[in-house]
Amino acid sequence: MALHEVKRDSAETQSSTDMPERQPAAVEDHRAVSIDEARELDAGARHYRAYVGSAKAYDVTAASQFALMVTLGLREDHTLLDIGCGSLCGGRLFIPYLRTGNYYGLEPESWLIDDAVSFELGEELIRLKRPSFRHTADFSLTGFGVAFDFMLAQSVLTHTSQSQLDRCLSEARLALKPEGLFAASFFSNGRDVYDGSDWIYPAFAPYSVRFVVEKGRQHGLAAYPLIWKNGYEHYWVVFAHNEQTERFSWLANICGEQRMLRVLELSKDLNDTRRKYLKIKHELKKARQELATLRGDERNRSPERASERQSDDDAG
Ligand SMILES: C[S@@+](CC[C@H](N)C(=O)[O-])C[C@H]1O[C@@H](n2cnc3c(N)ncnc32)[C@H](O)[C@@H]1O
Repeated sequence: MALHEVKRDSAETQSSTDMPERQPAAVEDHRAVSIDEARELDAGARHYRAYVGSAKAYDVTAASQFALMVTLGLREDHTLLDIGCGSLCGGRLFIPYLRTGNYYGLEPESWLIDDAVSFELGEELIRLKRPSFRHTADFSLTGFGVAFDFMLAQSVLTHTSQSQLDRCLSEARLALKPEGLFAASFFSNGRDVYDGSDWIYPAFAPYSVRFVVEKGRQHGLAAYPLIWKNGYEHYWVVFAHNEQTERFSWLANICGEQRMLRVLELSKDLNDTRRKYLKIKHELKKARQELATLRGDERNRSPERASERQSDDDAG
């Protein structure tokens, strides 16, 4: 038995019966091909790099999710649950970064982790960092018996049915620490909301930002849409416990919608200020003209006093 299998819970390897059947994995086996050859495979092909998305973008997909989580505050002593961790695309950066025992991965396809350990991480690192894995498709995030500081679902909720999304969010609420954050990528085509009952892959299940924010609210989670690229034109949403919205107001500052509103507010302020400035400039000009007229009148009437006033003006 491979060392990294020790911490897996074998009782969790079957899917829950109340979840939709997952589509069978691609049949043709490319597990033995090289990384260079894998770059030519389609997303979803049976190679650890291609199965989880674009094999060409495997490096940058890892980097962008790692950078996002660190930006959100992930530090080495935090616990992280990587939902649908696949072949540890992000895991191969998170596992060395986090302290021993702090990385948790949920992934139905155990072969992906086997190949990631063989070709990316090595048994030595696994021995040192002791990540935990569960192989289940039922989104039982509470199954590790751990309260998480952070959770991540990169390119996972982009393929789920609504009932899977509901299940994931309701479990996230239970497994996330009160001050924890859950970052998930979503796909939107600006029109549709996926209403199929199955996980679809490699096709995307579209969900609008409004729909996702409302889903979060239904599960007691505040949702902050972010501008953050992951190479797949997905958008990201960060969920936090509703009761913690004060603490996470800084998230709203980097949230796209809020930023757009702020830009609109600022341009409105700018236009108002410009209008005020033009009005004041016009009034000032009028006032100067009136003053000049008044002075002219007065000088005509009393030349001595006018010359006194002229020397006052020069001094002032
Ligand atoms: C597009 S891949 C993304 C993998 C990984 N997050 C990454 O960034 O490379 C989607 C992953 O979700 C996994 N998956 C499929 N059904 C799942 C379920 N019900 N629960 C958790 N993960 C699931 C797939 O096996 C696959 O590894």
